[in-house]
Parts: sequence; structure tokens; C-alpha cells
Amino acid sequence: MYCLRKITDDLTWVGGNDRRLAMFEGVYSVPDGVSYNSYLMMDEKTVLFDTVDKAISKVFFENLTEMLGERPLDYLVVHHMEPDHSFTLEEVVLRYPNLKIICNTKIVTMIKQFFDFDIDSRAIIVKEGDVFSTGKHQLKFYMAPMVHWPEVMMTYDTTDGILFSADAFGCFGALNGAIFADEVDFQQHYMKEARRYYANIIGKYGSQVQAVLKKIASLDIRLLCPLHGFVWRKDIDQYVEKYERWSSYTPEEEGVVIAYASIYGNTENAAEILAARLWDRGIKAVMFDVSVTPASDIITSAFQYSHLVFASTTYNNGIFVSMEALIFDIVAHNLQNRTVAVIENGSWAPVSGKLIRAELEKCKNMNILENKLSIKSSLKKNQMIEIDAIVDAIEETIVKNK
Ligand code: FEO
Repeated sequence: MYCLRKITDDLTWVGGNDRRLAMFEGVYSVPDGVSYNSYLMMDEKTVLFDTVDKAISKVFFENLTEMLGERPLDYLVVHHMEPDHSFTLEEVVLRYPNLKIICNTKIVTMIKQFFDFDIDSRAIIVKEGDVFSTGKHQLKFYMAPMVHWPEVMMTYDTTDGILFSADAFGCFGALNGAIFADEVDFQQHYMKEARRYYANIIGKYGSQVQAVLKKIASLDIRLLCPLHGFVWRKDIDQYVEKYERWSSYTPEEEGVVIAYASIYGNTENAAEILAARLWDRGIKAVMFDVSVTPASDIITSAFQYSHLVFASTTYNNGIFVSMEALIFDIVAHNLQNRTVAVIENGSWAPVSGKLIRAELEKCKNMNILENKLSIKSSLKKNQMIEIDAIVDAIEETIVKNK
């Protein structure tokens, strides 16, 4: 049975939710599910904006059939070819054989890679700034390469001020019947998931996001329609400001993420003492055991806070395995502009600190503090001075809002 949400008189959400997916993209847990958004515009011509993942194809086609009634589907605008939005594309073509597909040349190439149907005869190729009329609505196209795939583009409906933003401005979490961000307590329940989505899916491509933000800065966006999560009709500026911040790798708040790898608890003990000393100074600290918390969650906090401390035992003459995965992931996600301190441990030859520093030096604008702590098996009382030296150095770099 169909399940729809009306967005405007002409636009309806025809997507769906998947609450059984364990790992989005095989990497990111989605305990609260995820939505795959598709939008149908009923104008003089009918226009579908993107398709959906295979997991929700049944309800998607029921939605589409219900909305179209006897009308044909005239156009499909494809913004992004990742299969969570394109898996059902071929079936849409089979069901609506006269359908034309509005896309760019890179999308045509990817359609040929993923599918075998004839795209050349049905493609309407658009470029940056092109405008396409569907009757009352005028659609203007903006290329958004590497946000977060090379073929990505966005569409701005100049008639109603609707930006179809592809993955940008998306969020993990099923919609649970809501469709607008202002129907739920987004700040309380979803901002964390929006940050986790941004940091992990798009976070590597900050400069490309900045380029798109510049392009859309002058648009009168009255509705923001991403491919995952909620539609925005209020406080759009505030959400765009978050993207400005995240994409420029500017911390949201002053605070210290302490990620530690500890086999028998001694490195954890040092990390906990450090956290307590920071709180003593009124500096917020959050702690993560890298063997328990997924790297993707820690990266999300690293995007949020200004300071990072990595405390790791030495393992096989290297960085402990789960800490090594986190460090590699942080470098891969292009994190920048953070102040970092490193603590190492090792019972005979501690080397993890040196190796962590070497990896993080690959990141841009990382202020890696000279102060460090090297533990042999367990922290000793005479090393408290070194902990305090790290706290002092962190405090000096904290911009306090006094
Ligand atoms: Fe939601 Fe990049 O796919």
C-alpha cells in the first residue's frame, strides 16, 4: 500500500524508509534506519527526482503508481548514481518506456556502467545553469562534483524555490511518518545523525562542498529536499551554516575528544586522568574506547570539537589495531584545523605515539602539540606533571567564551 507525504501542491515525497539495514554502505551503523527520498512533481509534465534503493522498491512503485494514476511519467531527473538512489532506475524505465532522463554526461556514463538499457536515446543532457521547463515549473541545474561522487548535480526549481540537493543536507534515521525537519525535534534527536552523515559520507570533500555552497548562496531556497532525511522549510539558513562550518573544517565547539586504545586499562587510566584534569579547568572532554566505539562515531565527534587526544598502547611494534584504523580514517576524511595531543604506552618499546604523529602530519593545519606522554606499562605519580603539561597546552589553545 502506498505511503506518501505531500510537500507542496505540486510536489509529493514518494520515497520510503529502511529500518532493517544494519550497515549503510556496509560501514555505518543505522540503528534508527535510513530514508531514501524520491520526489514526484505533477506539472504539465510529470517529473520524478531520483529513484530509490532496492530495499524499498515495493512501496516506491506503489507510491509512484498511486500519484501518477493514468498519467505517464515524462521525466526522471537523476542527481546521483550511487545505487541507494539508482537501483530501481532500470525498472522505472521498463515501466515507463517513453520516459526521458534529465542528467549530465557523467551520469550517462555511470548509467551505462550500472545498466544495459539504451540511455542515449532517452537522455536529455544538461550543463551548469541550464534551465528546463516542465510547464509551470522552471528547473535550473547546478553541477556538484564530488559531493560526494563525481557525477552529482542539484536542481533548483525557480518557481517554488525548491533545491533538490542530492546527498548534501541528508541525515541518517528513518522519517517515521514525518517529512519536514520542523515536525520533529531535529536539534535534539537528529542533528547528531546529520553530523555523522556529513562527516562520514561527505566530510572528505570540504572544498567541493564549499564550492557548491557558493553557487547556491544567492538562491532563495524555500524548500530543501535531500536524498536522505527530512525536507527543510524553516531555519534553512541554520542548517546551511552547519554545512559552512563542517565543510571548512571549523569546529562547532571548544572541547576535547579523547580516543584511547587500552588492552589492560592502563592507557585508559591515563586518558581518564587527563579528562578529569580538563574538566577541573572547565574544559569539556568526551572519551571513546576505540575498541568499543566505531571509528565513524569518533570521526563525527572529531568534526564537532576543537581538540583531539589520541592515547594508544603499542601493539606488534605499531599502533594498536583499532586506533590505527581510526587514525587512517581521520586522515582519509581529510580532517583539518584541530589541535592534537598524543599519549603512548608500551611495556618495552613504546612507539605508537611517534607513529600516530607521523600519520596525522598528513592532515592540513593540524597543531600537534609538542607536549606528550610516554607510559611504560602504567602511569606513575611523577608523570602527573606531564599530564598537566598537556592540559596546560590544551588550555592555552582553547578559545574561551568568557
Ligand atoms: Fe545516498 Fe551517495 O548515496
